[in-house]
Amino acid sequence: MEIDLKKVDVIVDQYGCNRDSLISILQDIQAGYHYLPEEVIRQVARRLDLPLIQVYGVATFFKAFSLKPRGKHLVHVCLGTACHVRGAPAVLDEVKRQLGVETGDTTKDMKFTLETVNCLGACALGPIVVVDGNYQGKMRPGKVKGVFKQYRGAIEGKQA
Ligand code: FES
Repeated sequence: MEIDLKKVDVIVDQYGCNRDSLISILQDIQAGYHYLPEEVIRQVARRLDLPLIQVYGVATFFKAFSLKPRGKHLVHVCLGTACHVRGAPAVLDEVKRQLGVETGDTTKDMKFTLETVNCLGACALGPIVVVDGNYQGKMRPGKVKGVFKQYRGAIEGKQA
């Protein structure tokens, strides 16, 4: 995706160049790019007159931010203890196979990024796969393909 620093300026201007709005600014930018490109971080630091290291500090501290390009859809597989004993590793293997990526990676078409988490606090539903915040509980390897097929269809249908 091409980086348009003018869009970054528009977002910063909306917050009135307010340093206290750094997190909100980064959230808005991340919502557009699905990650925080380096030139964007530099521009935000320039516009807010903040040391680059401070902006990087915030961008790397919060898990919601990513410095690596992320896909349009975020896939999280829970590997917490409860999900683990109920078969999460096999589910994760099948998710990797279906998407053709390793944990932390993004599909070549930039549609999906795969990440793992440690306990989502809904252990009774485990193993859990979350796609863009939508929980899919009691997952089995055999159900994984259906999740992505369904999910792709629903999303592409809406956004086509
Ligand atoms: S271990 Fe997966 S939700 Fe708790």
